[in-house]
Amino acid sequence: MQKSIRSSRITGTGHCCPDDVLSNQDLERMVDTTDEWIVTRSGIRERRIARPDQAASDIALEASRNALDTAGIDPGDIDGIIVGTISGDQPFPATACILQDRLGASKAVGFDLSAACSGFIYAVNTAHGLIASGQLNKVLVVGVEILSKFVDWQERSTCVLFGDGAGAVVLEPCEPGGGILGTHMKSDGTLADLLYIVAGGSRTPASAESVAKGQHYLRMKGDGVFKYAVRAMEETSRYVLAQAKLSVDEVDLMIPHQANVRIIDSVYKRLGIPEEKVVVNLDRFGNTSSASIPIALDEVVRDGRLKKGNIVLLVTFGGGLTWGSVLLRYS
Ligand code: UT7
Repeated sequence: MQKSIRSSRITGTGHCCPDDVLSNQDLERMVDTTDEWIVTRSGIRERRIARPDQAASDIALEASRNALDTAGIDPGDIDGIIVGTISGDQPFPATACILQDRLGASKAVGFDLSAACSGFIYAVNTAHGLIASGQLNKVLVVGVEILSKFVDWQERSTCVLFGDGAGAVVLEPCEPGGGILGTHMKSDGTLADLLYIVAGGSRTPASAESVAKGQHYLRMKGDGVFKYAVRAMEETSRYVLAQAKLSVDEVDLMIPHQANVRIIDSVYKRLGIPEEKVVVNLDRFGNTSSASIPIALDEVVRDGRLKKGNIVLLVTFGGGLTWGSVLLRYS
């Protein structure tokens, strides 16, 4: 293995969300809920929902093409594809391999990474490490989820929260001190029972019985996740800032995982980051899990809110529990 110490930077971004919009008013007709409850408790107004025939690789493909286009890279030139997802096309092969085929990225190694809503941040950190060690050079990193197919549409406390989407970035090497300045990942498996799907694995294989019991659906203890998320996101943000020897004041933009606007508010207030530096788009997309950060990142790149030289804090948490962050200078 070639040894080199180098950093990596984002050279392209893209996203793709399904066209179909499901509003809070639509949900009022499906379960015992109200627009007022959903907006007050979560900040979400609408979300995008995949068509029955749409799978993760369909929207990941479009997000990836957008990211590769903005990076000016031919799919045949990328040497790595890492997909953060818990709702891939099928249990295996990896959605990254399906995407590799569909992109025509014949030189790339592809694999999926399962870290729930932290999947994209874990994948960026992994790609960054592989680039730093000299193993890979041009890596496509994707966060994609179609959680609408894993949500129990009779269960009001979860079905109102999630949406479908895909976001992608291209990472390429750069000199240390540019691009990614700090990374952090952490998990706590003692809290695995806060957010999970029981069936479909080797413990409880999919069966008529597991389906009858609704064990193929996502389940969540929302209040437990909420409390932990706020502490974990503050801790990991402070960790990467200390790693990069930067102060909170030097952050130009914070892109948090888009789960709940009250979680986001608590985190930026605890950190002392002004509200105008915080990116929120969950009102339009809901919680798209591992896709939420790359979707928001692509939006601020395209609308010009993120400028070259800006310091950006990406911070997440999710099932596992997992959490982590990436601090970077956008260049
Ligand atoms: O990406 C990581 C994934 N997860 C998360 O980020 C979730 C983190 N947690 C949360 O976002 C919040 O905990 C929720 C939005 C899930 C819930 O908000 P909450 O303020 O913690 O509400 P709650 O669960 O304590 O429920 C309060 C009440 C309950 O009624 P009672 O027991 O007080 O009578 C629920 O039954 O609200 C009821 N409720 C609803 N009412 C109307 C739960 N869901 C709904 C609903 N519409 N959709």
